[in-house]
Amino acid sequence: MSFQAPKGVSEYVPPRSALMLRIRDAFADSARRAGYGYVEPSVFEETQLFVRGVGESSDVVTREMYTFDDRGGRSITLRPEFTAGVLRCVLEHGLHKGALPVKVWAYGAAFRYERPQAGRYRQFYQVDLEAIGTEDPAVDTETIAIAWDAYRALGISRLTLLLNSLGDPACRPVYRKALQEYLRGLDLDAETRQRIELNPLRVLDDKRPEVRAQLQDAPVMADFLCPDCAAHHDRVRELLGDIGIPWTDAPRLVRGLDYYTRTTYEFDHPLLGAQSAIGGGGRYDGLSEDIGGPPLPSIGWAVGVDRIVLAMEAEGLTGAETAGTQVFGVPIGDAARRIMLALVTSLRRAGITTDMAFGERGMKGSLKAADRSGASYAVLIGEREQAADAVLIKDLRNGEQVEVAAAAAVAWLTERVLGEQR
Ligand code: HAM
Repeated sequence: MSFQAPKGVSEYVPPRSALMLRIRDAFADSARRAGYGYVEPSVFEETQLFVRGVGESSDVVTREMYTFDDRGGRSITLRPEFTAGVLRCVLEHGLHKGALPVKVWAYGAAFRYERPQAGRYRQFYQVDLEAIGTEDPAVDTETIAIAWDAYRALGISRLTLLLNSLGDPACRPVYRKALQEYLRGLDLDAETRQRIELNPLRVLDDKRPEVRAQLQDAPVMADFLCPDCAAHHDRVRELLGDIGIPWTDAPRLVRGLDYYTRTTYEFDHPLLGAQSAIGGGGRYDGLSEDIGGPPLPSIGWAVGVDRIVLAMEAEGLTGAETAGTQVFGVPIGDAARRIMLALVTSLRRAGITTDMAFGERGMKGSLKAADRSGASYAVLIGEREQAADAVLIKDLRNGEQVEVAAAAAVAWLTERVLGEQR
């Protein structure tokens, strides 16, 4: 019997997995430079948190959650996204009682029972960032800038920022009604008709050409924004202009989660086909109250690490991932292996990436492994070297060999390797 990973799960192994860490670190660096602290919230939550937080009418809650009863009979759900859990965590630990906004970021897997396809998985990875407890439009722009700069630091150049406002409880209901009236007059199937009553904004997101054609003249939120929301939106755009981040107004951009208010945005990559969103976020000014907390207007984003891997591959940005092996040890015989392990450990402690041949490989096999490792130097220890209390160092790039006293080997190699790095 052999096993495979569950359907729709993306796994990463070397060398590709190194990209995941690079992506995580680029977003983490960008977030840290703006004063965001790391949080590690629970991977699973009480199901009700997502039902109340993400929204009963969202696709995520109605059909995509991994929900099960634990052995104590509690309904548990693997996080389909971070925001509700991060906010729950911040409230539970009382971080909102200190200075506002609370600025945090997180990283890890999220789970959605979706139809798997390129760029859409059932287990996927997000970097998430949240600024909790301020209405200031400057923080909307800050969150966008943090993501933008991270994408850029990774070398991603083909990037579009789509920007919209979804209004607030004052103006959205008026828009919702106007949209419903318009949609009810269209030729749509029963399921979509049901959606008009439950979550009409989602109909705007329908990808089918026959539906899209009918949506051309649908009313847009931008024409219904109340003065406060319109002023907020204008300010965000003004500030984006100040810091030189280009955006595209996307009046039909709706998001898949129900908690959004006012500013919403998505980062799109043109080379990814249907799953082109490599990140997205927005304001969720009412979410804290929805999950039993105090009023805490907030904003944040999550970026899809799996899709950023695909975007980087599409742009050819997959060059040298890590500092490769610099020194490779070739011991001949048992006694030499013992000496070599000590030498290799010392070299690593001195900051040199070092590997060695394991097992009974013989001189030829070991030297082949040294060549394959990409190391600049091989260190050989055989009977002759042991007798002379020395090591033989071979420059693998030009074949030159030199015998060095065993006690001086670490200093000799450290000086050469670190010197060449500079
Ligand atoms: P989201 O748009 O659902 O937002 O997800 C953010 C990003 O995660 C997407 O743009 C996409 O790159 C990636 N993603 C989502 N689903 C999948 C999937 N099935 N497979 C691969 N990648 C996927 C949120 O999750 C919000 N919590 C973002 C947020 C934070 N809003 C405010 N704060």
